[in-house]
Amino acid sequence: MRAESANLGAVILPAKPDRNLAMELVRVTESAALAASKWVGRGDKNAADGAAVDAMRNLLDTVNMDGVVVIGEGEKDEAPMLFNGERVGNGSKPVTDVAVDPIDGTTLTSLGRGNALSVIAVAERGSMFNPGPFVYMNKIAVGPDARGAIDITKSTRHNLDAIARAKHKTLNELTIVMLDRPRHTDLIGEIRAAGCRIKMITDGDIFGAIAAALPWTGVDALMGIGGTPEGVTSAAALKALGGEIQGLLWARGDEDRALAKASGIDMNRVLTTDDLVQCEDAFFAATGVTDGDLLRGVRYDAYGATSQSLVMRVRSGTIRTIDTRHRADRIGQYSSVEFR
Ligand code: FBP
Repeated sequence: MRAESANLGAVILPAKPDRNLAMELVRVTESAALAASKWVGRGDKNAADGAAVDAMRNLLDTVNMDGVVVIGEGEKDEAPMLFNGERVGNGSKPVTDVAVDPIDGTTLTSLGRGNALSVIAVAERGSMFNPGPFVYMNKIAVGPDARGAIDITKSTRHNLDAIARAKHKTLNELTIVMLDRPRHTDLIGEIRAAGCRIKMITDGDIFGAIAAALPWTGVDALMGIGGTPEGVTSAAALKALGGEIQGLLWARGDEDRALAKASGIDMNRVLTTDDLVQCEDAFFAATGVTDGDLLRGVRYDAYGATSQSLVMRVRSGTIRTIDTRHRADRIGQYSSVEFR
């Protein structure tokens, strides 16, 4: 994906500026978010997801790439999905792996709660970790200031101390974001015992992972067990943000453990950011579906709608926030979104 390089002393610059695929991908997440936004608060998460999937698939075919979906929506809740193995893009180069999450936070969307995002990550073919049937992953994610400080094999307290040290904060100045789940009872106790603050989210740990890496969110780290696909997608964003994620596949029970044994999967292997996305040519785009701490959700006015997106490229480390105005009488003509 890289143009021929010229070596100017210590700095390697491409001979000419190359393409940033993320600038094309943002149209895909915008389209999915616009479609999903019609379902905000309407109590039907599958309808919201289905609308986002259709809109995403439609726009994906215009993207200049030969992509294969390696992270689809997952079989966890049998939501409508872009299937793993599905070919996407217009078939031209580059050849890529694609991770899609048309809505991270389908329940957030159906209940009109904040921080639902439409998300896509793209990387060189063969470079994204394939979670297979392993739905859950224990994760720690931090931003650039705590990169290198965390170790998921060590205790919660060890990691909290390390994050606090790296960020020059006291323990009670740290805020840890996590999914509000019964499986986190012990983790919550350990974090509270250390005197740290917790931001509980009901869904959407891609939001949580990104929030940990952006200073204005007030979040210092994401901890706890969430989706493995979301972990891989988050890794693309964290790579661009200069942060870090570590994961350990998490077994739901004996069945998962037996499956891991039978398929030779080492559940104790620490999956690093670079294991989850094994290349520098990776791109990430997310658009807000509902209003949140990272992005505004889709809003409507007389002109049409506005959306807000984050667009990131790993190789350059560029992070863009894109505000887009969508004209109602035009967008419906060329996208799958029924606008009015
Ligand atoms: P959906 O949008 O597919 O419902 O997923 C939301 C989510 O909260 C993810 O962000 C998270 O990784 C996962 O679900 C957690 O799974 P579970 O709800 O089973 O704990």
